[in-house]
Amino acid sequence: MTQFILNGNPVVSASPDDTPLLWVLRDELDLKGAKFGCGIAQCGACTVHLDGVPTRACVLPVSAASGRAVTTIEGLATDAGEALKAAWVSEQVPQCGYCQSGQIMAAAALLEANPAPTEGEIVEAMNGNLCRCMAYGRIKAAIQVAAGEGEAQR
Ligand code: FES
Ligand code: FES
Repeated sequence: MTQFILNGNPVVSASPDDTPLLWVLRDELDLKGAKFGCGIAQCGACTVHLDGVPTRACVLPVSAASGRAVTTIEGLATDAGEALKAAWVSEQVPQCGYCQSGQIMAAAALLEANPAPTEGEIVEAMNGNLCRCMAYGRIKAAIQVAAGEGEAQR
């Protein structure tokens, strides 16, 4: 039994302590935004925020979220998050879409920590989020737009 805050609301998971948080989110709490990609912390498709820090939910035991705040793409409502979602649409970022919630959660954590990242800082921050559709250029452009730098890049 694990209690934590999910997207601003208290929740209780009845799953065993070592159940990956991603399983709890998707299968127990029915939030399907975070995706299962690799299952070994290598792709970023499952990225959520744990107390504001981007975290790979596929390898985090649900017990590690006890008493903490988990934010998924469904609950991302910060200014940075809203700017990113709008930029994702304007820049037409997704192709298949599978990696995209993880990409946005990683980008949101970046902009919340660093509202005006350099191109190099964006590349470094997003380096661990893989996209098999190779949308990397549009992902970077959308982050620059969300950060208010997009026009300068065009
Ligand atoms: S599914 Fe978690 S990092 Fe790939
Ligand atoms: S848009 Fe298809 S994996 Fe990224």
